[in-house]
Amino acid sequence: MKKQELKISFTEYETENELNAEEQQLLQKARSASDLAYAPYSNFHVGAALLLENGVIVSGNNQENVAYPSGLCAERVAIYAAGASYPDVKIKAIAVTCKSKQFHVSEPLSPCGACRQAISEYEMRYKSNIKMILAGETGKIRVIDSMADLLPFAFKAEELKKNR
Ligand code: THU
Repeated sequence: MKKQELKISFTEYETENELNAEEQQLLQKARSASDLAYAPYSNFHVGAALLLENGVIVSGNNQENVAYPSGLCAERVAIYAAGASYPDVKIKAIAVTCKSKQFHVSEPLSPCGACRQAISEYEMRYKSNIKMILAGETGKIRVIDSMADLLPFAFKAEELKKNR
């Protein structure tokens, strides 16, 4: 028996101004996207903006549905839009932010498990890490170099193969 430990590293910035220009621009796009979210049931508005290797920014926001599970998170709306319009173009970074109509969000958003899995798929697809930039309405900004850090022991395609 051997007890194991996992360590992840991430960077926290006190303010948005400490991010580099590219990261700041991406976060601004995520904030604009959150303004356009369709979230009449939770009143929790999430925006995501992806920077592709060709310089294009693809945005998305949460789209809710009266049949609740039919809705989709901002991160997946954005990443599937990128996959649909720009197949084979690497995704360099994703900024995600949120705001509520009912309270103030002063902590960075923490992506849900399904979105972690979806983003992880694109890291594996393009064999390239995707930087996560996570923010609330105000407060510190959390930057993680790769989704793999947020989803240890991810389910991978190799597991579907025989004799791996
Ligand atoms: N939501 C996202 O868009 N991204 C996340 O990472 C967490 C949750 C959305 C789903 C739903 O529309 C609302 O936030 C409340 O859960």
